[in-house]
Amino acid sequence: MTGSSDTSAIMLQTRDLTKRFGGVVAVDGVNFLLHEGEVHSLIGPNGAGKTTFFKLLTGLKPSAGEIIYRGRSIAGLMPHEIARQGIGIKKQVPSVFDGLTVEESLMVAALRVRSRRTATAEVAATIDRLKLGEIAGKQVGILAHGQRQWVEIGMVLAQGCELILLDEPAAGMTSEEVARTVELIGDINRDRTIIVVEHDMKFIRMISHRVTVFHQGRILAAGTPDDVLSDHRVKDIYIGNSAA
Ligand SMILES: Nc1ncnc2c1ncn2[C@@H]1O[C@H](COP(=O)(O)OP(=O)(O)OP(=O)(O)O)[C@@H](O)[C@H]1O
Ligand SMILES: [Mg+2]
Repeated sequence: MTGSSDTSAIMLQTRDLTKRFGGVVAVDGVNFLLHEGEVHSLIGPNGAGKTTFFKLLTGLKPSAGEIIYRGRSIAGLMPHEIARQGIGIKKQVPSVFDGLTVEESLMVAALRVRSRRTATAEVAATIDRLKLGEIAGKQVGILAHGQRQWVEIGMVLAQGCELILLDEPAAGMTSEEVARTVELIGDINRDRTIIVVEHDMKFIRMISHRVTVFHQGRILAAGTPDDVLSDHRVKDIYIGNSAA
């Protein structure tokens, strides 16, 4: 599946999605469209609302608007309920426990949504798929930064999710780790749909079928990586940002 085709089915859609924190409108009337099979990237300056948007997709109650996932409204559902429906997230902040081994970490994640028997099978498949076999018995606390990120991605995969949200998976990685992450996202995309938040434009170009740009809580532009990244309005917000 290429996922880049506009004719593939809509997997997720938001309508006028809005989140206010007191006087701050973090997400402001967002109409977002995701097709089955895509790698869809969200970009935008710091504070644009990308992480808040992910939080809304995974259980944070919106101030207004709707989230439709495969025809069902999911706004404000409990996080484990959303995971059961097939949406998983690797958060911007670390969510692994240093004292657990890689295998135990995957198991804890899988058991949140699966029976023990299914969880065991999913964990084994995930270790295989992400080539984590050599470090499966090691404590997460001693791993390199890149390996920890892959374990966190593995925790989402082990939940069997069909839509995977990755909030800054390549941040702080070496160029070798970034290259491995590009490969990994391509591999995961063979049978899962992915939304990625990232700041690294080279990385965005390598992985994305489509890109949506957030700015001040709103969608500024959406389209193919080439179209979006050459859009002068998009260039302007980044230039404005680095000059600030
Ligand atoms: N819990 C909160 N309470 C108050 N304001 C918040 C809260 N969470 C986010 N915000 C504000 O909402 C806006 C959007 O923040 P968000 O973290 O979604 O941005 P982001 O696009 O993920 O930024 P970054 O690229 O730096 O991760 C910011 O102004 C932020 O300060
Ligand atoms: Mg963020």
